[in-house]
This record gives sequence, C-alpha cells and structure tokens, in this order.
Amino acid sequence: MSQKTDFLIIGTGVAGLSFALKMAEHGRVTLVAKSSLSNNNTSMAQGGIASVVASEDHFENHIHDTLDAGAGLCLPEVVRKVVEDAPMRIRDLQKWGVEFDHRQSDSLGDVDLTREGGHSHRRILHVQDHTGMAIQQALQSRVKENPNIKILENHIALELLTDHDLYPAQTGANRCIGASFLDIENHKLVDVFAPFTMLATGGAGKTYLYTSNWEGATGDGIAMAYRAGCRIANMEFMQFHPTCLFHRQARNFLISEALRGEGAELINAEGRTFTYDFDKRGPLAPRDIVARAIDAEMKTSGAECVYLDIRHKGKDFIKQRFPFIYEKCLSLGFDLAEQPLPVVPAAHYLCGGILTDEHGQTDLPGLFAVGECANTGLHGANRLASNSLLECLSFSHYAYLKILQIKDQVPLPLGQRVDHGLYLHKENADEFMLISHLWDEIRSCMWNYVGIVRSDRRLQRALTRIRNIEVEIAEYYSHFKLHPDTVELRNLATVARLTIECALRRQTSVGTHYNIDHPSQKSDLNPLNSISPNSLNG
Ligand code: SIN
Repeated sequence: MSQKTDFLIIGTGVAGLSFALKMAEHGRVTLVAKSSLSNNNTSMAQGGIASVVASEDHFENHIHDTLDAGAGLCLPEVVRKVVEDAPMRIRDLQKWGVEFDHRQSDSLGDVDLTREGGHSHRRILHVQDHTGMAIQQALQSRVKENPNIKILENHIALELLTDHDLYPAQTGANRCIGASFLDIENHKLVDVFAPFTMLATGGAGKTYLYTSNWEGATGDGIAMAYRAGCRIANMEFMQFHPTCLFHRQARNFLISEALRGEGAELINAEGRTFTYDFDKRGPLAPRDIVARAIDAEMKTSGAECVYLDIRHKGKDFIKQRFPFIYEKCLSLGFDLAEQPLPVVPAAHYLCGGILTDEHGQTDLPGLFAVGECANTGLHGANRLASNSLLECLSFSHYAYLKILQIKDQVPLPLGQRVDHGLYLHKENADEFMLISHLWDEIRSCMWNYVGIVRSDRRLQRALTRIRNIEVEIAEYYSHFKLHPDTVELRNLATVARLTIECALRRQTSVGTHYNIDHPSQKSDLNPLNSISPNSLNG
C-alpha cells in the first residue's frame, strides 16, 4: 500500500506532536507512532521544562548552566538561541492547554519553579511530578481533533525512502521522499511518500540493560538515518540518570531529580552524604558527576545501591509535590516519608544522535530530525536537566520555520510501491528465541562494557561482540518473517555499534563519557565526533 502526504512525522512525543500542530496549518500531515500515540519518553518525563521566568533569573544564567553541564562541547550560539526563545515555547504550550503548577500562596498566579541538578536558579516549570504526561495529553487532544492530521498508530518504521533508492537513474542530490512502515496489526507494508520527513523518534535507552526509557526507545530514527547516509554524532554521550528505583520489578522507574531540587540527599548505607566528596554542589551537581559519584560509592563499598532521603520534608509536602512518585513507591512497599529510597543510576538520555543544523535539517535533503534522536549542539557532552522537552519544542519550531521558507520549491514525490524484498508470511516461530537472546546480549554487553566508567579494552571487547551480532541479525533480517522485534533489534545493534565507535574515537574523558585509560579532559575538544556510513572518518 502507498500513501502521500505533505509532511510525514515519525514519532509522537512532544517533538512530533508540536511539529504536527504547526505544520497542519500549511498542509496534510501524517503522524506515525510505532505503538499508541502516548507511548514514548515524553509521557514518562517527570521533572519539567526549563525556562528563565523568575525576575531574579537571567538568560545569561541559563546559558552558563547549560554550557557548564555540557562540559565545553555545546555549540554556544545554539544554546543562546534556545534559551532566549524558551519563554515563547512555554507560551506555545500554554496556548495548547498545558497548565503548569502555580505557587499556591500567590494570588497573582505565578508559576511554581523547581530546581534540578546543574541549575543555579529555580527555573523549571512543572505539572506536579508528571509534566511530560500533562504535555503529552494536552497536545494529543489537539492533534486528534485536527482534520489535517492523519494518525497511524502501531506502524513501525522500516526504512527511509530516497530518490536514489527508488529511481536509480535520477541524477543530482539524493533526497528523502518518505518512509516505509510495517503495519503491525494487519501485518502489511505501507509506504508513505512526502516531500518532507521529520524524525522525532526519541532516544535509545534500550541499548542498555537498565534504563529509565520506555520499551520502544531503540534508536530507530538514528539507525534509519545512518542507513540512508546521514552523519551520526557524539553517540558516546549517553547520560545516566543518577536515581532510578532499585527494585527488581521496577528497575526503570525514575525518581525525579526534582526531589533533590527540593532538598533530598543522597546517602550511603551508613547514612553518609557522600556526593559532596565529588563536587561542592553535592546531589545537585550535573548528572554525569552525580552518577559517577554513586558508581564510585557502590564500587568502593560493594553495595548494590545508594539511598535518596527526603523524609525531612514531611509527608504532606511529599504527597502534594510528588504524588505520582509517592504512590508508585508506596505500591512497591516504600514510604518516601518514612524511609530512604534505594536508588541506582540507569541509562536515561542520549545527548548525541543524527547530526542536524540549526533548523533540524540532516545531511539528507528533505529529512529533518528533532528531539532526542538529533544532535543539535544544545547538550554537548551532558544535557542540563529539563532542557530536553525545551529542545524538542525549540527545534520543531525552527524546522517548521525553515520548511515554510522552502516548501514551495520542493515537488511532491511521485510515490510508487517499493519492493522491500522482505518476507511477511514465512513462519519462523523457533527463531524468536534467538531474537530475545540477542536483545539481552546487546543490552548486557552495553551495560557491562560501555557504561558509566569505560576503558579501551572494554570498548574493544564490546565492539567485537556487537559487530558479530550485527552480522547474525543481517542474515536473519532478510531471510525470515518480518517482525517488529527484529526491526528494533537490528536498529538497537546499529546504535550500540555507533555508540562504541564514537566512544573509542573520543580519546579523553568529558561529560558523560569517562574512560579510565584517558581520565583527564583534553583542552582541544572536538565538539563533533561524527560517523557517516560512507566514511568512518566523518
Ligand atoms: C527528572 O525528572 O529527573 C528527569 C528530568 C530530565 O531528564 O531532564
């Protein structure tokens, strides 16, 4: 089956939804989710969104904090633009119906601002402790009622479609003209043709055994863009969130940094506040520092976890400010008001991704990338807390402005069915065991060898293993029945390999990339550690 649209958007978190709402004023939009519309990392975001709002705060402070967290690798002009535009992006959200928490005592209705690691001021707007879900729901209801937006749920993207693939006789620059999908429920292939395609496919936390991310964070957009010829950059910068719940059944449950922003301390089993040994900001230092402090504490003491203690704030405050986290922990047997909570770091946010310019344009004309799948230069070597939702909104706006400028010069692609050479009906039940085994192997390998603390030897070992796995998957992919797990597995392996290759090339320690063989930070840091499928020298 093939379809045509003006704007194809893959991914339905805040980047995809906000872009859809803007583009729908100028044409037909097809918005594709690989699961349901609300299954994504945006819905799981607890903390909030950063913007200078308070009169005692200034843009220069937010710029400084972002650059400082990014450890010298942010692009300063990108940081300045995003920070200075942030209040406008907050107004976009309010216009779409997002109601941020207000200070209860304030009859003027000022927004309540919380604090997180690396921020010198209170500047995080939030909706209790489920900000992402509140944003997702508000934007989703707008999208659903918009007659210009067609929604395809349960469609997993397979490949980007390009001029050169479809029309080999074509000369001139290659161009993205849409993407192919597997309609999971009906087990059919669907090609969607469009002059502009937006990847808003999110991150790749699932490359690691322990992650705060949703099930589908398998780096699909990054792997597809790479296969289509785009450069991928700074993949070594996987950010580990310091505090995920340490619990067998809920190991991916995030305990928001906002708890530390509101006074929670990180302590060891003896009750000692160890984080001040590493940075004077203690538990509110940037995430890379706090995650490494926890890792070091656990390795020194042999403990399986550390503890987050917010008891001193009292039950009323905790229940009112963090109702979602409080109830979830209670359901697992932990009362935050009565006991310190066992926590461990977990893979949380990919700072690198598909290389884009300041408008979210990738190397492939017609293809844009926004949000966690993109490397825009905002985050450098370590993202500042609550700058992620902001980046999604900012770059979907910049991409929207760029496309308005150029859209009349780009013709609609012809759009003809593509022979994917894939099997839809062949049976291969026995082979699913192999898929799940390879999934586990990749995730354990990444956790053990490409984690918070790395070494050249561990990285080399991981690279050899992942390369072998990629060969096994390639063999499987084209010979057996197409299944979403196989599609994700192939992407996961590609993204894992790109992460390791970037990590091996970054011969220093900076931000979230820490290598014991190169422990000190070099002064001549390259902000762009990029890999292209055509040349490993970027
Ligand atoms: C959190 O609530 O701790 C996560 C916020 C973020 O990742 O920026």
